[in-house]
Amino acid sequence: MRVGLLGGGVIGGGWAARFLLNGFDVQMYDPDPEAPRKVGEVLANARRATTKLVMPALPAEGTLTFLDSPEAAATGADFVQESAPERLELKQQLLRRASTAAGPDIVFASSTSGLLPSLLQQGMTHPERLVVGHPFNPVYLLPLVEICGGSQSSAAAADRAAAVYETVGMHPLRLRKEIDGFVADRLLEALWREALWLVNDGVATASEIDDAIRFGAGLRWSFMGTFLVYRIAGGEAGMRHFMAQFGPTLQWPWTKLMDVPELTDELLDTIVSQSDEQAGAASIRELEVLRDDCLIAVMQGLRTVGYGAGEVLDRYERQLFGRGTPTAVEPDLTAPVRVHECRVPTDWVDYNGHTNDSRYMQLSSEAGDRFLRLIGMDSAYLESGRSFFTVESHVNYVAQTRAGDQLYVTVQLLSHDQKRMRLFTAMRRSDDDALVATAEHMMLHVDTTADRASPADPVILAKLAAIAEYHDRLPAPPQAGRHIGQPSR
Ligand SMILES: NC(=O)c1ccc[n+]([C@@H]2O[C@H](COP(=O)([O-])OP(=O)(O)OC[C@H]3O[C@@H](n4cnc5c(N)ncnc54)[C@H](O)[C@@H]3O)[C@@H](O)[C@H]2O)c1
Repeated sequence: MRVGLLGGGVIGGGWAARFLLNGFDVQMYDPDPEAPRKVGEVLANARRATTKLVMPALPAEGTLTFLDSPEAAATGADFVQESAPERLELKQQLLRRASTAAGPDIVFASSTSGLLPSLLQQGMTHPERLVVGHPFNPVYLLPLVEICGGSQSSAAAADRAAAVYETVGMHPLRLRKEIDGFVADRLLEALWREALWLVNDGVATASEIDDAIRFGAGLRWSFMGTFLVYRIAGGEAGMRHFMAQFGPTLQWPWTKLMDVPELTDELLDTIVSQSDEQAGAASIRELEVLRDDCLIAVMQGLRTVGYGAGEVLDRYERQLFGRGTPTAVEPDLTAPVRVHECRVPTDWVDYNGHTNDSRYMQLSSEAGDRFLRLIGMDSAYLESGRSFFTVESHVNYVAQTRAGDQLYVTVQLLSHDQKRMRLFTAMRRSDDDALVATAEHMMLHVDTTADRASPADPVILAKLAAIAEYHDRLPAPPQAGRHIGQPSR
């Protein structure tokens, strides 16, 4: 699939990364000669973050082409996303031009933060195919995208946009009514207005206001919204009790409502200097990496409870899992199967400068997942209520690795029967094939609905038998079956 992108700044670059990393080809128009460099930087960040976020392998990356007109970027595209500066006339002109070059069914989505789609679609060829697809920064990590149609938009266009966004792991939120600022930005603006007042009135600094969010409500907001949080705050009596208790405070002077402080030079200077002080020596790129790592930690944490953004991540991973192997090359089954490669990321390294021991287990487990995919365990299989669970593992550390080392992992099938599978993984450095760690896993085939062991599907058993035919002839690795072997006191 091919996506046309109009504008490649912070948001357009983020879209490029999300689509490319999901295997879509991207053709982009951005008049800025610096755009390829800027998009390249966003893509590098996104590659690091996305491979860290998801367990399954990403599909082979799509190709990125820069073209010199909006018409060229829309030609041959299956979907077009506009992310040009937030100026109505500029966006209208861009959409008008690009829409002449795309077939009538090709959906156009605008990343606008708050311009009305009814205005954006004016003058377009087939205006009914325009919707707003409002994302959040960083687009390559945050799942939310608000979809809002204008007076001429068709429901089919919104459906199609939602389907495209779901394919790349996002959570489309369909707006019921067209409104300036949509839903999320109206909420964020209300908070922002109050924050500006608090700085203006000298009540709190930028850093203190951020602390008031990130140590309290902000943590809750990452998994439950204001309504559910307040329902719980109402205790057993729930929302009615909460409204009875806090309803009257809405009339108290707790809020400045719609007033906005005048952005005088003095207020701007205060905001900028407090923000500089808060960031200290950290550059924007460093702050982006910190932000991405925190988002990854939150989303991975939420995945363990299968709630909110964690549920979206889980669904996305299952989808990736079902997309087939990322390489078209048939693996050689006559030897331990080379299933996985990775470069040691900087955050895998501990205070000794070496890869932390837990990461070898992670690497081996990722290799195990790829092996499962190889023998036919895809998302349809998982959805049918069957899976393999790891019931025991053992890691053996052989040599140290450092950040940046390229590693690969092979999997050897030691034994299997209808319900069990014993895998041995060898992790090696790509440069010299030196063994750095091994691991052994006992996996049990499980009926996930009944939550008990069950025989694997005959198709999977046939694949395992085909591999075992070769692997049974391989020598047993010396580390296989090892245990720590020290008497316990
Ligand atoms: N920054 C955010 O947090 C955020 C979040 C959600 C949505 N948005 C929306 O996304 C859109 C883009 O915002 P941004 O933050 O990426 O801005 P940006 O300034 O980083 O990027 C805009 C890009 O558009 C390019 N451009 C200028 N004229 C163009 C034209 N005629 N055709 C194509 N490209 C052109 C610029 O060279 C630049 O690379 C805006 O509509 C904004 O409201 C921004």
